[in-house]
Amino acid sequence: MPDPFGNFPRLTLAHLPTPLVEMKRLREALSRETGQTLPRLFIKRDDCTGLAGGGNKTRKLEFLIGEALAGGADTVVTTGAVQSNHARQTAAAAAAAGLSSVLVLFDTVPYRGHAYRRSGNLLLDAVLGAEVRIMPADADAGAVFAAVMDELRAAGRNPYFVPVGGSSAVGSLGYANAYLELAAQLDGAGIADAVLVHASSSGGTQAGLIAGACHLGRGPEIQAVNVYRTDSGAMADGIHALACKTAALIDAPAPAPGAVILDNHHLGERYGMPTEAMRRAVELIARTEGVLLDPVYTGKGMAGFIAQLLAGAHSLREAAVFLHTGGMPGLFAYEEEFAVS
Ligand SMILES: Cc1ncc(COP(=O)(O)O)c(C=O)c1O
Repeated sequence: MPDPFGNFPRLTLAHLPTPLVEMKRLREALSRETGQTLPRLFIKRDDCTGLAGGGNKTRKLEFLIGEALAGGADTVVTTGAVQSNHARQTAAAAAAAGLSSVLVLFDTVPYRGHAYRRSGNLLLDAVLGAEVRIMPADADAGAVFAAVMDELRAAGRNPYFVPVGGSSAVGSLGYANAYLELAAQLDGAGIADAVLVHASSSGGTQAGLIAGACHLGRGPEIQAVNVYRTDSGAMADGIHALACKTAALIDAPAPAPGAVILDNHHLGERYGMPTEAMRRAVELIARTEGVLLDPVYTGKGMAGFIAQLLAGAHSLREAAVFLHTGGMPGLFAYEEEFAVS
């Protein structure tokens, strides 16, 4: 079978394949709690993709930075929240490719802790040599990006813009590829019926996975936990449109709108605001499996995964897989949630 990704410029950045690890101790702990039979539980370790702490953006950035280099860019501009993992990984990818990076970060999370503004990803952005510009939450994002791009061009630079989360169709190719990787690992383990659960935000991970499933025509069912938007209908529509564009890039059939499954019970008050279920999930996985999640994405995603398992939602499956999309540096920015008492 020809490589569906072979036609796209790509810079090798990720350590692949990432491990698929069984979570036997978590399964025991949850079985004790529910008294029911649970499927086998696995974690797909995309926090181990490499690139300055790892995470899901590494796979997307292979294609995005590939495209930037093919276009002769010398600077990468991207955006996110103040504690954006995507921005940190983009700064690292740019450094590894010999490019400069400008991170336009919006102060959208009403979280006033000192660490949030000094530590975690923001500290790593500085170490990685990125130029960081922090904007008020209500700034007109489109106008800000246009002004930054114009300013860089006027200074003789050739900037390449990466949308929030790296969630363009080109970036999402990384997760179409990840789906094929996971399906092969499940085949290797003799597992035919699995569900894959992950945290969804800007949607490129979910869109890419769905496109990968359309390409393969089989494999685990994809179910995401919304950690981003209160208007989940609009979020699902956006992810469906992106999945269609990504599928078209690899000549896969277009997904049906019903392929976008979002669990909307774990966002809490809003994006980036901690929840008690998130805190418990982060501690449970750390203490049963020795794996560190994050407070904004994977902690809430895992809270959803656990709630689904306890409700028996996956009890007829052979296996349930949680995709660990990274974000661990965020723990340091939310130290008040986890402080030693
Ligand atoms: C750690 C982590 N997990 C999950 C996500 C969500 O991925 P996506 O934006 O592709 O939906 C992000 C996005 O920034 C992230 O940083």
